[in-house]
Amino acid sequence: MSRRKLIAANWKMNHTVATATAFIVPLRAALPRLSRVDLAIFPSFFCVRPLADALAGTPVAVGAQDLFWEESGAFTGEVSGAMLRDAGATMVIIGHSERRHLLGESNEIVARKLAAALRDALTPILCVGELLAERDAGEENSVVERQLASAFHGMGEAMAARVVIAYEPVWAIGTGRTASPQDAQTMQAAIRAWLGKHCGSSADAMRILYGGSVKPDNAAALAAQPDVDGFLIGGASLDPASFVAIGEAAAR
Ligand code: PGA
Repeated sequence: MSRRKLIAANWKMNHTVATATAFIVPLRAALPRLSRVDLAIFPSFFCVRPLADALAGTPVAVGAQDLFWEESGAFTGEVSGAMLRDAGATMVIIGHSERRHLLGESNEIVARKLAAALRDALTPILCVGELLAERDAGEENSVVERQLASAFHGMGEAMAARVVIAYEPVWAIGTGRTASPQDAQTMQAAIRAWLGKHCGSSADAMRILYGGSVKPDNAAALAAQPDVDGFLIGGASLDPASFVAIGEAAAR
């Protein structure tokens, strides 16, 4: 099964409308060199509409970094999937470790958000990954399996097939410490095996990204692993040159 790689920029709480729009200029110029990979940008909510407009007619998808699971109502400060679609988003990140660990999102909340993304016809990137203490205790597989089991609980195979997974070991996020290509491959193969057992034959076509200190100089070795189907990139995605360089490394 050959899966097209997805190279996704998670800008977190960075970039204004002006700097986001400026980012697009060199990205557009590089698109002919990136035709072998899929690209997506996840800016702040405010930049979704301007970026979706600026990237209209290109193959670059725009997504949001979070959503709320209800469709509408008295939920001060929250944003629904329908609002995101209305702003031009086609994708959404669900359960990023910063939301799980800094903002207290439980597996149950993540499952609700994942279901809402699918209901609202957004392609979710579901983030899973263990803490350093969990890896040191040899618990990385059981932690990730629990995250997957909760997120996919009760979901039919056709729905599950629409989910993109991002394996992001928490100890590698923003630390400069990347998982080795072998460690990433081992976990991502285990994730695919889990998907095969619980989501059936679609597991083979589902994309599993790696995230955590991906840089232009480590991207090629990670991308060469059979179960690494692309990247979710934080820090190194803020600069267009390094985002493009990672895309080019993954396209080789
Ligand atoms: P990083 O972040 O590339 O800065 O480590 C990755 C992520 O949080 O998705």
